[in-house]
Parts: sequence; C-alpha cells; structure tokens
Amino acid sequence: MADLIVKDLKLRLGDNEILKGVSVSVTPGQVVALLGPSGSGKTTLLRAIAGLEVPHSGSIGIGDKVFFDAARKIDLPAEKRGLGLVFQSYALWPHRTVFDNVGYGLKLRNVPADEIRTRVGKTLSQIGLGHLAERFPHQLSGGQQQRVAIARALVYEPPVILLDEPLSNLDAKLREEARAWLRTLIVTLGLSAIHVTHDQVEAMAIADKIVLLDGGTIAQEGPPTALYNEPATQFTAEFMGSNNKLEGTLVEVSGGKAVMDVFGEKLTGLARTKAAPGSKAVGIIRLERVQCSQSPGPNRLKMELKAPMYLGERWELVFTRENLTVRAYANAPLPPGDCYVEFPPDALWVF
Ligand SMILES: Nc1ncnc2c1ncn2[C@@H]1O[C@H](COP(=O)(O)OP(=O)(O)OP(=O)(O)O)[C@@H](O)[C@H]1O
Ligand SMILES: [Mg+2]
Repeated sequence: MADLIVKDLKLRLGDNEILKGVSVSVTPGQVVALLGPSGSGKTTLLRAIAGLEVPHSGSIGIGDKVFFDAARKIDLPAEKRGLGLVFQSYALWPHRTVFDNVGYGLKLRNVPADEIRTRVGKTLSQIGLGHLAERFPHQLSGGQQQRVAIARALVYEPPVILLDEPLSNLDAKLREEARAWLRTLIVTLGLSAIHVTHDQVEAMAIADKIVLLDGGTIAQEGPPTALYNEPATQFTAEFMGSNNKLEGTLVEVSGGKAVMDVFGEKLTGLARTKAAPGSKAVGIIRLERVQCSQSPGPNRLKMELKAPMYLGERWELVFTRENLTVRAYANAPLPPGDCYVEFPPDALWVF
C-alpha cells in the first residue's frame, strides 16, 4: 500500500473558511492523531478525507488512486474511496444484530453470503466479540458497542481507518482501557489510521505522529515526544500537558536562553521568542517540572503554599503570590506557608 496524501486542503462551510490549507500524510502502518481544540476543524478534515465534505482546493489520494483533486475536478464518492469510518456516536442500527451491523455494508456491495459470514466472523473474533454476534446493540455495554462500530469499519479491510473521537462516549476508566485495547489492535493488525481526538494524552498514547490543528491550520506536527518536549509555539506548549503560565517582562535573549523578570526576580529559560528586551514575556512550564524548596536560590520565586491536594499516587501543591498561581506535584505534602518555588531553566519556555 502507498501513503495517504492530503495536500493543501481548503474547505468552506457557509461563509466560514474551516480548513485553511492543511496537508497530512499517513504511511502504511502509521497511526496519525488529529488533535486540536473544539472547532479547530478535526471532524471536517476527517469527513473531507472520507468523501463526506467537498473542499474547494487541494487534493487527496493514495498512491496513483486520486480520491479528490479540486484542480482536476475529481471527487470520488465515499463508497468508492473504501476508507473505514468510525463516527463518534457509533451510529449502530438498533434493530440489527451485531453480525448484521458489521456485515450490512458488505451485503449492500453484493458480496456473496458465504464470504460475508467468513469476513464478519474473522473481524468479530479479531476484536474479541465473536461470542456476541447474535446480540442487539441495546444488549451490549458502551465499550462493546464501540467495538462493533470499529468492526464495521474494519470489515472492508480499508487501507486507512478513520476514527472520529471513538472513545469519547466512554467514561474515564473505560476510555483508558479502550485506548490500550485500540492501540494494541492497530499495532497487531498493522492498520493505518487517522484518529481524531481533543484529548492530548489519548493522542500521545495512540499515535506515531500527532497533527495539531488550530483554527483550520496545522500548528505543529511530529512524534508525540517532539510535541510534548519541544513545542515550537506557545499554543503547542499550552495545549500539550498540564502547565503553569508566568507573565513578566523580557530582560534579555541570547544563545538560545531568555531571561524574564517576574516580581523583580530574574528567571532564566529556553528562548522561544525574538522580542526586544522590555517586551511582555510569557513563561510556560509543565506541572511535573516545578520544584519546591525551603530556601532562596537561582530561578526560584518566594510563594505561599495554599492547598495541598491528595491525588492518590502523588500530591498536587498550589502556590500563590499576588495574581500568580503555580501548581506543582510532590510525593509528600508540605506544611502551608512560604516556599521557594523553582523553575528549572531547561524546563521553562519563554515566549
Ligand atoms: N455545516 C456547517 N456550516 C458552517 N460551519 C460549520 C458547519 N459544520 C461545522 N462548522 C464549523 O466548522 C468549525 C470546525 O468544526 P469541526 O466539527 O470540524 O470541529 P472539531 O475540531 O471536530 O471540533 P470538536 O472537537 O468540537 O468535535 C467549527 O467552527 C464549526 O462551528
Ligand atoms: Mg469533531
């Protein structure tokens, strides 16, 4: 199989420019997560790839098979693209059994009954639902219904499976289990997939590559570790992980480092800005990188510890000073009162 290539896609709905030139590629066996805040265009992009929305510019294809090309006026209908699509709502037929839900699309395509039986049986057993073939959707748990929706897409053996927030209807605990199950399934079957989610942890767990959308354009793309550890912009830094935000004034930028002034103290971090000294600066640091100390020192701010919170495997500490709130993790609670909160220079991004 060749790569799925989406080139410079632009799409308008009504008067709104929803996609503003988006390019994505998926190599065989690769899982790409489309990540972004609500309204950033994730579903629209997935639907355009599936053939359910018509862009006004750009192209989509796999190898020499062109699905869509605005310039050449090619627009293959969804059923001819053969991409498996899993909707957020599952959209199972309530009056059909699991077997019929999964096999119905094959029947519509006039696949012989014997072959339908074999293919549906194989798909159901791959996803661990072989024993539930004769049940109706209302006799299944939410997690099982979600697997049926995935089976219905897999039964076509599509070159790429398109998943729109497939886990979002499950509660937090089930979602974590389903995430591990789905990642294992995808890897075991060697599937290529585009997985839409607005949950950055799910995107990192599931995907080989993350494409982060912001208002219909790509903010950053790359392996999960790159997006998490080397955000190119403040948007990416704030979208990935749990963060603290410090506001201050830029003092100097040199040799990849930036110094900012917060409450008259100098904090050094990694420069992500080219602004002039005296400009406003924003420091972003992940919760897990903030340290607490009992004495003053470089890159530390005196703050007041307000509210230790017990999270089970660790504590979360909340510090305040004037209008600044900083959260940090710790293995044990500290007594309330003054603390010196440290922002290690290799963990503080200055924008
Ligand atoms: N039929 C439509 N007409 C006009 N605008 C639309 C239409 N459908 C969606 N939009 C707008 O397009 C933008 C992108 O919507 P889309 O559903 O692709 O976002 P999303 O990233 O999937 O968001 P979510 O995380 O909430 O599912 C939104 O601003 C939305 O209001
Ligand atoms: Mg959506």
